[in-house]
Amino acid sequence: MKILLLGSGGREHALAWKIAQSPRVEKLYIAPGNGGTGAVGENVALNISDFDDVAAFVINYEVDMVVVGPEAPLVEGIADYFKHHSLLKDVLFVGPSKVGAQLEGSKDFAKQFMLRHEIPTARYRTFSAGEYDEAAAFLETMQPPYVLKADGLAAGKGVLISETLEDARRDLRELLSGKFGEASSRVVIEEYLEGIECSVFAITDGTHYKILPEAKDYKRIGEGDTGLNTGGMGSISPVPFATQYWMTRVENSIVRPTVEGLAADGIDYCGFIFFGLMNCQGEPKVIEYNCRMGDPETETVMLRLKSDLVDLLEGAARGDLDCRSLDIDQRAAACVMLVAGGYPEHYDKGTVISVPEDVEGIVFHAGTKLERGQLPTSGGRVIAVSCYGATLPEALDAALRGAESIHFDKKYFRHDIGRDCL
Ligand code: AMP
Ligand code: GLY
Repeated sequence: MKILLLGSGGREHALAWKIAQSPRVEKLYIAPGNGGTGAVGENVALNISDFDDVAAFVINYEVDMVVVGPEAPLVEGIADYFKHHSLLKDVLFVGPSKVGAQLEGSKDFAKQFMLRHEIPTARYRTFSAGEYDEAAAFLETMQPPYVLKADGLAAGKGVLISETLEDARRDLRELLSGKFGEASSRVVIEEYLEGIECSVFAITDGTHYKILPEAKDYKRIGEGDTGLNTGGMGSISPVPFATQYWMTRVENSIVRPTVEGLAADGIDYCGFIFFGLMNCQGEPKVIEYNCRMGDPETETVMLRLKSDLVDLLEGAARGDLDCRSLDIDQRAAACVMLVAGGYPEHYDKGTVISVPEDVEGIVFHAGTKLERGQLPTSGGRVIAVSCYGATLPEALDAALRGAESIHFDKKYFRHDIGRDCL
């Protein structure tokens, strides 16, 4: 098979690494890819928001299967574009339709979906621009902390949590007056959920599903989960509190009702579903859906997937996922993300990175590019080091040794990833 993977982050490098191991692959293209993905496939300079460009490449290079990494092209409708293009009908496509991607693209859509299908989540109401007074009155009926969410995609910054009613009113006014443009023209106000977060992933063909290994990510920049939110500073899999009993609850109350709900609503959905969950005193509740894999969760989840990923992706695209097998590696996996000093605020790009040849673990590039034989940084999250271990502490120690051995000016990483779970 000739496969085209869209995206350029650590998630895509991890997906590419796993896809490339499949005996089914004749050729793997990554568009646009990064400084690391060229080692497992061929990078192609495509603008993935330009569907005509992507289509032309698929036709010219006789690509058999397209896999979408990030949410943006899905929310913009790339799956529908492929489905309705006369020359692309036979191309296997892994990624949900534009409506399906609304599970991530609109918080209000996701909340209505959960309400309709009785999927446990925080109590909420949605308000639009002209409804400040009603929204403020609803806030008063809630307990602190107050959770406000821009309805649309806001680059991971659309959730505002405040301790006082006064701050919440200010956030509400800012959101409704267009802090995130169109994305915050509607605002979801919801109940605060107390607990520990866990990321659960499923792959589905719209009817059948398989649950991938769960993971936990670490979003804050500082040790002890302090400071600003980032795109993710590391991950672990498995998650100790996600016992078989708990995961069965997740499957019965969340995963199955979600897949059945999509089908019942007539929504085309093929690809990954990311369930951002809160463990509320043993009861799993949905904080958010994403229509893609998580980053940096993929950098541990792919290590623990023993089965051929291409086989699963093909099953999702063809609608016979029930005939494919999913085997999980019982070892633990840990990932530590190396970021540029200053991130997530101001940071430098173009800093040269050196990775030792005998680096411990598996190195997944995120914000890097290859330029005339050198490897400069090109983003805030630079490189992830992922390691196996017989136990979680062993995997974590190995990932930290790997992280120490990679050098670039102003390198920063967290030393406490996964420690809260030991
Ligand atoms: P989201 O963009 O929906 O993933 O939200 C970002 C983060 O805000 C989540 O990962 C949680 O840590 C936090 N969060 C979102 N909604 C809630 C909630 N209802 N209760 C508590 N924390 C929340
Ligand atoms: N790690 C969280 C996300 O990918 O959104």
